Amino acid sequence: MVGNHCYCFSSIITIFVSIAIHSTLASPRLHFCRHDQRDALLEFMHEFPIDKSFPSSWNKSSDCCFWEGVECHNKSGQVISLDLSDKYLNGSMKTNSSIFKLQYLGDLSLTNCNLQGEIPSSLGNLSRLKYLDLRSNNLVGEVPASMGHLTELEGLSLEKNSLSGSFPSSLANFTKLTRVFLNSNNFTSTLPSDMSGLHNLEWFDISENSFFGPFPKSLFTISSLIIVSLEKNQFTGPIDFENATSSPLFKLEDLVLASNKFDGLIPESISKFLNLQDLDLSRNSFSGPIPRSISKLDDLRHLDFAKNKLEGEVPSCLWNFPTVMLSHNFFSSFENVSQESTDIHRLDLNSNSFRGPFPDWVCKFYRLEYLDLSNNLFSGSIPSCLSRFTYFLMELTLGNNNFSGTLPDIFGDATRLESLDVSRNRLEGNFPKSLIHCKALKHVNVGSNKFKDKFPHWLGSLPSLHVLSLRCNKFFGPLYRRHMSSGFKSLRVMDISHNDFTGTLPPHYFSSWHEMTTLTEEYNQYMESHSFFDAYFDSFPFVPENYESVEMVIKGVEMSFERIRKDFRAIDFSKNRIHGKIPESLCSLKELLVLNLSGNAFTGVIPRSLAKLTKLETLDLSCNKLSGEIPQDLGKLSFLSYMNFSHNHLQGSVPRGTQFQSQNCSSFMDNPELLGLEDICRKPNVLGPTSHQPEEVSESEEPMFNWVAAAIAYGPGVFCGFVIGYYIFTSGYHEWFAERFGRRKIRVVTSVR
Ligand SMILES: *[C@@H]1O[C@H](CO)[C@@H](O)[C@H](O)[C@H]1NC(C)=O
Ligand SMILES: *[C@@H]1O[C@H](CO)[C@@H](O)[C@H](O)[C@H]1NC(C)=O
Ligand SMILES: *[C@@H]1O[C@H](CO)[C@@H](O)[C@H](O)[C@H]1NC(C)=O
Ligand SMILES: *[C@@H]1O[C@H](CO)[C@@H](O)[C@H](O)[C@H]1NC(C)=O
Ligand SMILES: *[C@@H]1O[C@H](CO)[C@@H](O)[C@H](O)[C@H]1NC(C)=O
Ligand SMILES: *[C@@H]1O[C@H](CO)[C@@H](O)[C@H](O)[C@H]1NC(C)=O
Ligand SMILES: *[C@@H]1O[C@H](CO)[C@@H](O)[C@H](O)[C@H]1NC(C)=O
Ligand SMILES: *[C@@H]1O[C@H](CO)[C@@H](O)[C@H](O)[C@H]1NC(C)=O
Ligand SMILES: *[C@@H]1O[C@H](CO)[C@@H](O)[C@H](O)[C@H]1NC(C)=O
Ligand SMILES: *[C@@H]1O[C@H](CO)[C@@H](O)[C@H](O)[C@H]1NC(C)=O
Ligand SMILES: *[C@@H]1O[C@H](CO)[C@@H](O)[C@H](O)[C@H]1NC(C)=O
Ligand SMILES: *[C@@H]1O[C@H](CO)[C@@H](O)[C@H](O)[C@H]1NC(C)=O
Repeated sequence: MVGNHCYCFSSIITIFVSIAIHSTLASPRLHFCRHDQRDALLEFMHEFPIDKSFPSSWNKSSDCCFWEGVECHNKSGQVISLDLSDKYLNGSMKTNSSIFKLQYLGDLSLTNCNLQGEIPSSLGNLSRLKYLDLRSNNLVGEVPASMGHLTELEGLSLEKNSLSGSFPSSLANFTKLTRVFLNSNNFTSTLPSDMSGLHNLEWFDISENSFFGPFPKSLFTISSLIIVSLEKNQFTGPIDFENATSSPLFKLEDLVLASNKFDGLIPESISKFLNLQDLDLSRNSFSGPIPRSISKLDDLRHLDFAKNKLEGEVPSCLWNFPTVMLSHNFFSSFENVSQESTDIHRLDLNSNSFRGPFPDWVCKFYRLEYLDLSNNLFSGSIPSCLSRFTYFLMELTLGNNNFSGTLPDIFGDATRLESLDVSRNRLEGNFPKSLIHCKALKHVNVGSNKFKDKFPHWLGSLPSLHVLSLRCNKFFGPLYRRHMSSGFKSLRVMDISHNDFTGTLPPHYFSSWHEMTTLTEEYNQYMESHSFFDAYFDSFPFVPENYESVEMVIKGVEMSFERIRKDFRAIDFSKNRIHGKIPESLCSLKELLVLNLSGNAFTGVIPRSLAKLTKLETLDLSCNKLSGEIPQDLGKLSFLSYMNFSHNHLQGSVPRGTQFQSQNCSSFMDNPELLGLEDICRKPNVLGPTSHQPEEVSESEEPMFNWVAAAIAYGPGVFCGFVIGYYIFTSGYHEWFAERFGRRKIRVVTSVR
C-alpha cells in the first residue's frame, strides 16, 4: 500500500542517516543538542495527550540530535528536520506550540499522525521550511493566509485531510515549488488565474476536491511538469493547450482530467505533450471525434476516454497503445485497420453504438488480454480467428449484442482466461468443451442465449470457478449423472435457471461445494481487520473509478451494500424440471445467502436442517410439490428477509418468527392446508386474502429482476457497475481488477521531496 511503501522508504532513509551520523562519532563531535531546541521539542511532545507515542529516545538523558525523527544542523546544532510520521499524536497543533521555536526547521513531516483541528497560523513563522508534509490526518478549516510566508517551500502535501475553503492563492507565487499535493480534501474554489510562475513545478495533484471554474490554461505553460491530476473536481468548459507553445521540451507524462465537467472537443493541441504516457479524460462531457494528432503520442501507454460523448470513427492509430478505454461513448465505426499490432493489450469498447459484423481485424491484435465489446449492436457470428490470441486472453466480454451462430470452440490454449461473458446474445448450439483447459477460469456467463447442450459437468473440475451462469438457455437433460464427480469446490454463484434440466439430485450433491461451506481463513482475517469501506478504498491507490456506478446501482435497485459483499453466495436452479427430494447436503452450505429452487418439481419435505443456513437472506421454494410442514426452526433465521413457499402442498402452521410474520401474503398462497396465515394476510399493503388465486405467469417470460442474475450479469448501465462491484467485494482480486480494468499505471505517491 502506498503509505507503507512511503513509510518503509523513509525508515530506510532514517536508518541510513543515523548510521551516517553515528559513524562520524569517532571524529570530534561536530554538533550537539542545543538546550533551547531540546526543550522546545520536549514541550512540543507534552502538547499531545499521548506522550508514549513519541519515540523512547526522546528523553533528557540523550542528545536530542540523535532522537528518532530529529536531525540537527551539523555545525550549529539547530534542529533542521523533524519527522514524526505514523506516530499517533491524536491532538491538535496549538497556535503557540513550541514547535514554532524551531526556527531553522527546513523539513517537517507529520504524516499520518491523526492530527486534529486547524492548521495554526503560526506555521507561517517557520520561514525556512522547504518540505511540509501533513498527509492521512484530520485537519479541518482553511489553509491560513500566513502560509504565504513560506516562500522557500519546495514540497507541500496536505493530502487526505478535511481542509476546505479556497486554494491558498499565495502558492502561485512560490517559484521553488516542485511538488504539490492537495488531493482528497474539501477545497472549494477556483485556481489562481495565473500559475505560470511556478516554473519548477513537477507534480501537481489536486484531485478529489470541489475546485471549480475553467480549465487552468496557465498551468500548462510550465515545461517542468511531469504529472498533473485534476481528477474528481467540478471544472467546467473546454480544455486547450494553445499557450503551451512556449517550450518544445514538455516533460508531461501523466495528465488526468477525469471526472470533471469539461466539454467541447478534445483539442488537437494535446499532442504537444510528446512524452505523455497516461492520458485520462474519462467521465467528462467531451464530444466530437478523437483528434487525429493523437497519433503523434508515441509513448502513450494508457488512453482512457470512457464515459464522454465522443462519436464518429475510431482512428486506427489507437491500436498502438497498450490500453485503450473508450466505453460509454457514441462511437459508431472504425477506421479501416490494415496493420497487425502486438502493442495493444486491453481494449474496451463497451456501450457504444457499434453495429455490423464482429470487427475481425481484432484478430490481428496478437497480444490482447482484455477485450470488451459488450453492449453494442454487433451481429453475425463470433469468428474463430480469435484463437490467434486466446493464449494471452484473460477476459473476453461480448455480452448484450446480437451475435448468433455457435460460440467457436477455440479455448484449448486459453490457460490464462479468467472471465468469459457472452451473455444476452443469440448464440446457439453446443457449449464449448475446450473451456475445460482454462484452469484459470473464475467467471463464466453464457446466460440468455440459445445454447442447447447437456450440463457441462466437467466445469466442476475447474479449480477456481467462482461464478457460473447458464440461465435462460436450452440446456437439457439430467443435472446430475452417476459416476461424475460434482466438484465445483470454488463455486460462489451458480445460476442455471430457466433451462430444461431434469432428474433428481442425490443427497450428497452439494457436498464438495467447499466455497459455500466455509469462508477461507484469509477471508475471515480480512473482515476482522477491515471495515467494509476501508477494505474497499484501501485497496486502491486511487478511489476506484467504478465507485460511482456501484453506488448508483445500489440506489437504483434499493439494495444495501451488504448484498455485494465479498461473501455473496447464491444458488438459482429455478424454472427447470428437477424432481425428487431437496438434497440434504444443501444444508451444509452455511455461507449461502440466496437460494432459489422455485418452479421445479421437488417433492418431499423441506429439510429441517435448512435452518443451519444462518446467513440465508433469500429463500424461494415456490411452485414445487413440497409437502409436510415448514420447519419451525426456519423462524430463527434472522437474516431471512425474503421467502416464498407458495404453490406447494405444505401444511401445518407457519413459524412464528418475525421474519415470517412480516412476509407478503402471496409468499404462502396456494398451499390449501397451510395454517396461521390470518395475521400475515390481514396486514395492510399486502395483496390480501383475495390474492390466493395463482397469478398467470407466462412460461417464456423472463423475470424482470432476479437477484442472482443482477449480480452476475454484465450489462448496460446499472448492471455493469454492479458486476464490477461484485467482483471487488466477492473475490478480493483487487490487483486483478486494477489490471484488467486497465487502471493507469500505479504511481507510488510518496514524499514531497
Ligand atoms: C533515552 O534514550 C536513550 C537513547 O535512545 C535510550 O538508550 C534510553 O533507554 C532512553 N531512556 C529512557 C528512560 O527511555
Ligand atoms: C555538514 O553539512 C554540510 C551541508 O549539509 C555538508 O556539506 C558537510 O559535509 C557536513 N559536514 C560534516 C563534517 O559532516
Ligand atoms: C483521540 O482523541 C479523541 C478526542 O479528541 C478521543 O475521544 C479519543 O479517545 C482519542 N483516542 C485515543 C486512542 O486515545
Ligand atoms: C509568529 O510570528 C508572529 C509575528 O511575526 C508573532 O507575533 C508570533 O508570536 C509568532 N508565533 C510563534 C508561535 O512564535
Ligand atoms: C498556549 O496557550 C494556552 C492557552 O491558550 C496555554 O494554556 C498554554 O500554556 C500555552 N502554551 C505555551 C507553550 O505557551
Ligand atoms: C504574488 O507576488 C506578487 C509580486 O510580488 C504580489 O503582488 C502578489 O500579491 C502576490 N500574490 C499573492 C497571492 O500572494
Ligand atoms: C467536503 O465538504 C463538503 C461541505 O463541507 C461536504 O459536503 C463533503 O462531504 C466533504 N467531502 C469530503 C470528501 O469530506
Ligand atoms: C495565452 O496566450 C495568449 C496570446 O499569447 C495571451 O493573451 C494569454 O494571456 C495567454 N494565457 C495564459 C493563461 O498564459
Ligand atoms: C474500409 O473497408 C471496407 C471493407 O473492407 C471498404 O468497403 C471501405 O471502402 C473501406 N473504407 C476506406 C475509407 O478505405
Ligand atoms: C440481429 O441480427 C439479425 C441477423 O443475424 C438481424 O436480422 C437483426 O436485424 C439484428 N438485430 C439488430 C437489432 O441489429
Ligand atoms: C411468491 O411466488 C409466487 C409464484 O412465483 C408469486 O406469484 C408471488 O408474487 C411471490 N410472492 C412474493 C411476495 O414475491
Ligand atoms: C426465483 O426464480 C423465479 C423463476 O426464475 C423468479 O421468478 C423469482 O423472482 C426468483 N426469486 C427471487 C427471490 O429472486
